[in-house]
Amino acid sequence: MITIDHLSFTYPDGTKALNGVTLHIPTGGTTGIVGANGAGKSTLVSHLNGWFLPQKGSIIVDGMAVGKKSLDDIRKSVGLLFQNPDDQLFTARVYDDVMFGPSNLGMKRNEAEAATERLLREFGLWEVRDKPPAHLSHGQKRFAALAAVLVMNPKVLVMDEPTSDLDPRNRRKLIGLVGNLQATRITVSHDLDFIWETCSEVCVMNEGRIVAQGETKTVLSNRSLLENNGLELPLRLQDQISTDGRIRT
Ligand SMILES: Nc1ncnc2c1ncn2[C@@H]1O[C@H](COP(=O)(O)OP(=O)(O)O)[C@@H](O)[C@H]1O
Ligand SMILES: [Mg+2]
Repeated sequence: MITIDHLSFTYPDGTKALNGVTLHIPTGGTTGIVGANGAGKSTLVSHLNGWFLPQKGSIIVDGMAVGKKSLDDIRKSVGLLFQNPDDQLFTARVYDDVMFGPSNLGMKRNEAEAATERLLREFGLWEVRDKPPAHLSHGQKRFAALAAVLVMNPKVLVMDEPTSDLDPRNRRKLIGLVGNLQATRITVSHDLDFIWETCSEVCVMNEGRIVAQGETKTVLSNRSLLENNGLELPLRLQDQISTDGRIRT
């Protein structure tokens, strides 16, 4: 479903953020991408909906090459939840932010309104639909941004650090929610326990390259691999801490 072939990307200031990334993600796959700060994770996933266009190499999503001509179709298929919700929410009203994608990508108005209401209610945001996004809590912003992505019913859902501002209850809610989605999913996260619970495959990135890839439990329990790439074992595997987070005595 997604084929990334020798993708490289350099920012205008000369920073080489991606250095020949090759990756295949099957339809219905759930893939985690982990790596230290600056490894290139956000740059990589920002290519999947054409936010960045390939400078070198190619990306094929659902049979379409990501490029200028295919942008509208790509954005109907691929929903990207940005690392920073402020990049997703830019109108004066939560409701309008969720309606933005459907209005611009040609969904019928009544269908868009029904999907928007359903998601805002499901995420506990219906009461705040007229507020400016800036007045929401971090957690509410995250779910509003997710509603703005899911309203398009994307075949592929890409999430960049989705749990970074969620409290434990909302984090748990997100785990339940993504577990019920049919979409092919790609998740970037520092929260290796979140990846453990929501992804069946993991890629490890370092300096713009994919340095390891495999089944989640194998990759995320490989302490030396993680440590060599600036990461630590998931909390659930750290000796002194049990899975409920309490220190063992
Ligand atoms: N807009 C930008 N201009 C220049 N360099 C950037 C920009 N955004 C990110 N970078 C650099 O690109 C590299 C990869 O960044 P990023 O993809 O954000 O990493 P990650 O998401 O893994 O933390 C880093 O060295 C970062 O400093
Ligand atoms: Mg990032």
